[in-house]
Amino acid sequence: MNATYRPPEEFMTERFLVRRIQPSDAEAVFAGWAADPDVTKYLTWQPHTDLAQTRETTEQFHRDWEGTSSFPAVICRREAPGELIGSIHARSSGSRVSYGWLVRKDHWGQGVASEVASWSVAHALSHPKIYRTEAACDIENIASAAVMRNAGMTQDALLRRYLSHPNVSSEPRDGYLYSRVR
Ligand SMILES: CC(C)(COP(=O)(O)OP(=O)(O)OC[C@H]1O[C@@H](n2cnc3c(N)ncnc32)[C@H](O)[C@@H]1OP(=O)(O)O)[C@@H](O)C(=O)NCCC(=O)NCCS
Repeated sequence: MNATYRPPEEFMTERFLVRRIQPSDAEAVFAGWAADPDVTKYLTWQPHTDLAQTRETTEQFHRDWEGTSSFPAVICRREAPGELIGSIHARSSGSRVSYGWLVRKDHWGQGVASEVASWSVAHALSHPKIYRTEAACDIENIASAAVMRNAGMTQDALLRRYLSHPNVSSEPRDGYLYSRVR
């Protein structure tokens, strides 16, 4: 098999259904997390103030799947597939896949990100072309670092002044890089 790695457009973990984001998800994304300053605190973008911003991003994310490198997906509970509770974004580049994730605040601490990240990392590493999965987080983002460890990643490095997290500082922030390889 020589095709570039792509995550499935829809998959199930034990408790969750994960699928390609759709333009019609915009309202739920805006209400669920895009405007939430706690969820966006350690992200690269500022909270949305207008649904129009979320619509634009959601439509672009949906279109991304037509390419070969960016695969933004939403997470739902299997028994409530109409209710979005988070997101995982895989980015594929040659033999590497990197991840970003977030979970709606009222679902934090229930293992959502760990379960979905673990499935995603294992799936990527089962592809013959993929040798490395990775993720980076702000040094203060202990929940995200824990998700990385729960997905079997180990810390590669402290990256000084590496990440742009405008909700915390206008200056570049130190971050941790984690990976799981085969
Ligand atoms: C990071 C995030 C996705 C984790 O999602 P989650 O579904 O709550 O994570 P899990 O429930 O799988 O928990 C993973 C670990 O983090 C811990 N944790 C979860 N929320 C936490 C919090 N608010 N503070 C401290 N630890 C927390 C859990 O106890 C667990 O630790 P353990 O494995 O040692 O028991 C979520 O906090 C979030 O959406 N944060 C805002 C967006 C973000 O920062 N994304 C990552 C950018 S790199």
